[in-house]
Amino acid sequence: MTQHVSIVCIDCGAAAPFHPLEFACPSCGSVWRQAEYDLEFARQAWSENLSARPFDLWRYHELLPIRNPQPTVMMGEGGTPLLRAANLGRLLGLPNLYIKDERQGPTASFKDRQAALTVAVLLDAGLKETVVASTGNVAIAFSAYCARAGVKLWAFITSLVPAPKMHEVAIYGTRLIKVASTYDQTKKLAAQFAQERGLYIDRGVRSIAAVESMKTLAYEIAEQLGNEDTSSWRAPDWYIQSVSGGIGPVGVIKGFTELLRMNLIEKVPAIACIQTAGCSPMVDAWHKGLEQAVPVRSPNTLISTLSTGDPGRTYSLLRERMHAGSGGAMESVTDEEAYQAMHTLAKIEGLSIEPAAAVAFAGLIKLARNGKIDPSQTIVVNCSGHTMPIEKSILGDGWAQDVVLPDYSTLEQPEEGLLAALEHLDSQRIHNILIVDDHADARLLISRILQAQADYNLVEASSGMQALELAEKNPPDLVILDLMMPELDGFSVLERLKQSSKTIDIPVIVITAKQLSAGEKERLRGKIARLMTKGDFLSEELLAEIERILG
Ligand SMILES: Cc1ncc(COP(=O)(O)O)c(C=O)c1O
Ligand SMILES: [Zn+2]
Repeated sequence: MTQHVSIVCIDCGAAAPFHPLEFACPSCGSVWRQAEYDLEFARQAWSENLSARPFDLWRYHELLPIRNPQPTVMMGEGGTPLLRAANLGRLLGLPNLYIKDERQGPTASFKDRQAALTVAVLLDAGLKETVVASTGNVAIAFSAYCARAGVKLWAFITSLVPAPKMHEVAIYGTRLIKVASTYDQTKKLAAQFAQERGLYIDRGVRSIAAVESMKTLAYEIAEQLGNEDTSSWRAPDWYIQSVSGGIGPVGVIKGFTELLRMNLIEKVPAIACIQTAGCSPMVDAWHKGLEQAVPVRSPNTLISTLSTGDPGRTYSLLRERMHAGSGGAMESVTDEEAYQAMHTLAKIEGLSIEPAAAVAFAGLIKLARNGKIDPSQTIVVNCSGHTMPIEKSILGDGWAQDVVLPDYSTLEQPEEGLLAALEHLDSQRIHNILIVDDHADARLLISRILQAQADYNLVEASSGMQALELAEKNPPDLVILDLMMPELDGFSVLERLKQSSKTIDIPVIVITAKQLSAGEKERLRGKIARLMTKGDFLSEELLAEIERILG
């Protein structure tokens, strides 16, 4: 169909032209094949005019399996921002942390890439009906693009998917089939349906268009990290993503590998695949050093988006390709850890993300804490999707305050009643917290986290002397104290607070970035409410303790 791409079997090496309905190798029958291109031709074309093209997915059309570089379905796919995560980076001690904000695609997940390219490929081939099996986001993305292209879509979705995601699929006019079973069974049913009707079905890593779409993430990241002035590209040291079927990392590795072969970057990054603990077949196999994953028959996670229990050969391929590149890690996190990461991202970076995307961030936190990631490294986390909707269970209690309005008809001056109703919003006692740190950005981060937790009156001191003056003048309910400060350090501040009758009883939480010696620990003994190390502020436990101390 398209001249510049050939589809090469990874089992026997036979090459064939690309057509979306021909998914098996004509020589050996294997369905594991990949697209290959004339990379030198693409490199030449890009060096001549890439910079003049719009920053979207089609920018890289020489390395995509399409004929028309401006498909009619275009609606702003790809070209998402790479955001510097300064606050989260500071919290984790990772100054070079970036977020690829895939929420900013047309249907708010990175699956827009997959749907856009697949539908463009279908249009090229004159196909007008297709099938997907999905845990939600793939179906939503395909629904939007199929609607735009006038392609009839059958979406098979496991009934575990939250209802609002189902509604989103339905609104586009998709034929929605809810399957009361696991995602793996749903996929099988959809495949049978497609085969009987001779329809194209997205087969995940075995679909050329799916993998090719995901590699554009790698191209964009390398361009965004590079230097625009010199047109140089740069790969990060780490790419981190939450993983279900594994299309994302497989595509991203392919993208970086192509860039490496084109001499545009110097290495393929280490890849971190993060799964939920209740459905982590890849992680389990990785830790045991297995070449094949053992399927999880009954996934046990509330994050149904990531419920591929049987990754099949994708795991083996990923493992092989990670080992051939710069390696990486596979980790699992609990649902609870993902929800906490979700809160953190919203509160300190201003990004509301869905639980499936939060899994990647919970994984990042784990890798940073266990020292797997070095502080000097550049890390990109795929923020793969937006929260839609925020399920109430994630917020916990007290996420809003109710205002009950009186019956206006009985009041002479209705606005008075309104004010009275609002009054109780401010009625609780607001506690004073003194934050002592010589670094302004550290104070800002702590303030931000505390503010998001509850209504506190926060006072900041940038030196030990200033802290003592403020504490004497207006004793706070709690002091959060940095240890390493010039002139009067945290140890001395603590000693002086304990010498004054006005400040002796104020609870103090000490923050430290370094390991304390036995002697230093001795100086703190009996004087502090809690010793806190880097990253502790992410812990709900600590925040709960602060609330407890303040009563
Ligand atoms: C928001 C989100 N993140 C991550 C994933 C995992 O993607 P994959 O394993 O297919 O690359 C999905 C899959 O649907 C998703 O919707
Ligand atoms: Zn073959």
